[in-house]
Amino acid sequence: MAILKVAQLGHPVLRHVAKPVPAELFGDAALERLITDMLDTMREYEGVGLAGPQVHHPIQLIVIEAADERTDRGEIPLTVLLNPRILEASEEMVTDWEGCLSVGDLRGLVPRARRVVVEALDPGGQPLTLKAEDFFARVLQHEIDHLQGTLFIDRMDDLQSLSFGREYLRYRAPRPPDEPDERD
Ligand code: NI
Repeated sequence: MAILKVAQLGHPVLRHVAKPVPAELFGDAALERLITDMLDTMREYEGVGLAGPQVHHPIQLIVIEAADERTDRGEIPLTVLLNPRILEASEEMVTDWEGCLSVGDLRGLVPRARRVVVEALDPGGQPLTLKAEDFFARVLQHEIDHLQGTLFIDRMDDLQSLSFGREYLRYRAPRPPDEPDERD
């Protein structure tokens, strides 16, 4: 098990366009190892997704997983995609909060397509098509953006909602109706 160093905002690797994973690497031990390390890293830092460039590997590889107890936005099964491409995106947009392991603990409101269809290869090189909506669609768009050097802050309509984690929890996070409002 290896926890990889996660590149932080300002590191040029986050702004490069990632290279497609070449066919000869499918099923390769080094690629399998990288995938395992990325999963370990994502889980260690309690992320729901991680892209190659974030761990200093500018290749088109993303991993996604959300355990139900860690988010209130639903479960996402373990998903490993190589060379993913968004085939279709719904015109319907949803705005919701995002953060990123490469952007400290900042959160912001980001509009995303509600549904996407993604084409990719699995780690063995087999083509697959994935239909996703809501939270899963959001995470897919966020991670695929990383492969183009795009971060969630670039997708925000404006920066008014940008919040540190502590302030997000205090002023912004949805709270149960019976919980006292500490805002004022
Ligand atoms: Ni991210």
